[in-house]
Amino acid sequence: MTLIKFDHIAPIYDHFMLPFERGALKRWRRKLWEGVKGGAVLEVGVGTGANLPFYPEGGAVVGLDRSVRMLRRARGRGLEMAVLGDVEALPFGDATFDDVVSTLVFCSVGDVAKALREVRRVLKPGGLLHMIEHGRPEDWKGPLFDLLNPLTVLLMEEHINRNVHAAVVAAGYEVLKVENLTGDGLFKLIVARRPPDPRYNRGL
Ligand SMILES: C[S@@+](CC[C@H](N)C(=O)[O-])C[C@H]1O[C@@H](n2cnc3c(N)ncnc32)[C@H](O)[C@@H]1O
Repeated sequence: MTLIKFDHIAPIYDHFMLPFERGALKRWRRKLWEGVKGGAVLEVGVGTGANLPFYPEGGAVVGLDRSVRMLRRARGRGLEMAVLGDVEALPFGDATFDDVVSTLVFCSVGDVAKALREVRRVLKPGGLLHMIEHGRPEDWKGPLFDLLNPLTVLLMEEHINRNVHAAVVAAGYEVLKVENLTGDGLFKLIVARRPPDPRYNRGL
């Protein structure tokens, strides 16, 4: 059970995020999107469309989210291809996208392994997953986040002590880059490839 859902906070989400956007977040977003070359791109958990200003010119970006009200805001901001859906069961065929992007999404996904499998399925072999995600800090704050996690999950379905990098490795991606954005491991930029190795295509 979760008390607060993204549908509830959609009207205030951008106001809440403004100080973070004005801080480092905008810079991190730009850095992530510099690595997305265009072609067929899927943004999962597109939210209110905070990444729209950084989308590649001439690219076809599909934005997916499970919150109607967040998605509606993204459309208002100019998102043309908006899809209501769950990253754990993506409504796309195998090997559809060149790139998949997620920013601040995997903290609130129910089954991370399942979602990463789905993303891998819809990526073309050799396609890239680009993420900015937060997780368990690697310093003294780690145990504190463990302590607070049940509360944030109850309140907002927000997992604050995940190791997304480890989950990406476990899901069979080839990790090309991990940048520790905050120094303490709280925020990371991860770029990972769906291996072209046919072993990973079995059952897809
Ligand atoms: C913290 S917001 C981030 C929004 C946006 N990516 C950003 O960077 O501002 C997380 C978004 O992920 C969406 N989300 C969470 N779990 C999801 C899932 N399983 N499938 C699709 N969207 C999901 C939420 O509805 C919400 O819009």
